[in-house]
Amino acid sequence: MYRTHTCGELRQEHAGQETTLAGWVQTIRKFGAITFVDLRDRYGITQLVFNESLNPKLDEQPLGREFVLQATGKVMERSNKNTHIPTGAIEIYVSEFNILNRSNTPPFTIQDDTDGGEDLRMRFRYMDLRRNAVKKNLELRYSVNRSARNYLHENHFMDIETPFLIKSTPEGARDFVVPSRMNPGQFYALPQSPQTFKQLLMVSGYDRYYQVVKCFRDEDLRADRQPEFTQIDCEMSFVQQEDILNMFEGLIKRIFLDVKGIDYTDKVERTTWEDAMWQYGNDKPDIRFGMQLLNLKKPDSVYVSKQDRVDLVNGADFNVFDKAETIIAIAVPGASEYTRKQTDELTEWVKRPQIGMQGMVTIKCNPDGTFKSSVDKFYNQDRLQSIAQAAGAQSGDLILILAGSEERTRKAASELRLEMGERLGLRKNNEFRLLWVLDFPLFEYAEEENRWVARHHPFTAPKPDHIQVMIENEPSIADANAYLSHPYANIKANAYDMVLNGNEIGGGSIRIFQRELQEKMFAALGMSKEESIHKFGFLLGAFEYGAPPHGGIAFGFDRLCAILGGSESIRDFIAFPKNNSGRDVMLDAPSTIDEKQLQELHINLRSI
Ligand code: AMO
Repeated sequence: MYRTHTCGELRQEHAGQETTLAGWVQTIRKFGAITFVDLRDRYGITQLVFNESLNPKLDEQPLGREFVLQATGKVMERSNKNTHIPTGAIEIYVSEFNILNRSNTPPFTIQDDTDGGEDLRMRFRYMDLRRNAVKKNLELRYSVNRSARNYLHENHFMDIETPFLIKSTPEGARDFVVPSRMNPGQFYALPQSPQTFKQLLMVSGYDRYYQVVKCFRDEDLRADRQPEFTQIDCEMSFVQQEDILNMFEGLIKRIFLDVKGIDYTDKVERTTWEDAMWQYGNDKPDIRFGMQLLNLKKPDSVYVSKQDRVDLVNGADFNVFDKAETIIAIAVPGASEYTRKQTDELTEWVKRPQIGMQGMVTIKCNPDGTFKSSVDKFYNQDRLQSIAQAAGAQSGDLILILAGSEERTRKAASELRLEMGERLGLRKNNEFRLLWVLDFPLFEYAEEENRWVARHHPFTAPKPDHIQVMIENEPSIADANAYLSHPYANIKANAYDMVLNGNEIGGGSIRIFQRELQEKMFAALGMSKEESIHKFGFLLGAFEYGAPPHGGIAFGFDRLCAILGGSESIRDFIAFPKNNSGRDVMLDAPSTIDEKQLQELHINLRSI
């Protein structure tokens, strides 16, 4: 037997017992003739005491950091207890020890605040994973996994595996492809998600399916994106949108409770995609704080504002505002005290290339009821007051105004809102706010390709009362510049995203389940009949053998874990992640393969 206890287990009540521990040497300290060693395993750290009598053996077999050590001895109560660790009341008086394996000096310290940079830690990830900070993240990941599985099991969902070697049907991201040795010149693709399989399972009658499953997407990477990532993928039959929202609100609330001890009793708020775009400038708003955007000009677009804005800014000879397609104001609470230097710095911030604005107008709503603006020359106090009123500003607020083209201004305003939320400390890691975003457009127009593309995916059904619009209209567009006035531009999808603290953590939809409508959808996306049969004939066929109405959702498991763990980066929550160039720096993958392997796969490389 290698051990009788773990390094996190022994307490004062064990004093006097013989024990054998096994673990890694965290630190070695010598005090005169006595040696103290902190021994670490997954469960904790225990202090070992080596007295004089062991010095000859220690001289012969010196210990080093990260050596794997087995030690036997008596548990003793400590006189000076360490209250910072659970085993701090005891130490082990070692009578015998055995070095099970040696270690080179580790390239970085195995501590919470390690001296190792990200690249080094990833190269030696097996050692990085020994660190408490990383271990805590993996433990959190496991508890989210368990909690989700428990909830889904209790609700009669069945975990069914689906294949990884499938057919390439690029739609959305690029596929990763795998050459087939047995079928020369042919390739499998790795699934971007099990979407069509879970729909086929519904046709087969498995009316509640789930899988915690790897998905593969060859897309540009960011902090919240990995080329292989994990989804909690779910599908249900005989459901409408409301059933899905309730079921998966329940899932997330259960995870909050099990993992964070948070009883999220509020009903999850809902907004439409259109309102989200108007009020926050993006489709995954962070609703931990207000500061909603206010459009001061009615933009000329398909998005029709619910609020009837008056034209507040035109006709004051201020050319920038007169010319602008869109003007967006944000009232920043309590910031009227900002100095000139601070507002100048903010203006520089919006002028950075990533944000891309030409400048910014400010209005200070002074506590005495007066207004001080960077465009005082053009707007008198009355007009400034009406703008402030429209922007919902209170006295003491600072109003920030951006003007320019619709899309850029909206994006910039959205970024500026988040930045101000950050600066004012309103985006707290330990506060969680969920939001359903509903009624997405079914289509987007891809101008470069001159065709409609599915905003979610091609299996998403239109909202029930928009189906007719799709059936009755052809997708063709005479004038590509006028696509916004095409009936397809206004069709809404029966789709929903779940947003947590400004991150899209899940998305799904009610699906099309009739062959005719699915064929119409493929045609709308510019696919010929032959192409749709070649790519999705299996699904169209299945729809002719009793497909039930169905819908589902998939959660980004890595993202959910990262947010619950208070981190921006999903890499911290994946045992063996890829870096930003999609490389595994530990394995050094991807890599070239042997000529023999290439031959077997019938592959001739073009010169690179
Ligand atoms: P979707 O493409 O929206 O839907 O993906 C679902 C969720 O997965 C997460 N996600 C990612 N996480 C890490 N790295 C990535 N590269 C990445 N891409 C997506 C997001 C996202 O919300 N089959 C549909 C679901 C359905 O309709 O049921 C799908 O895959 O959190």
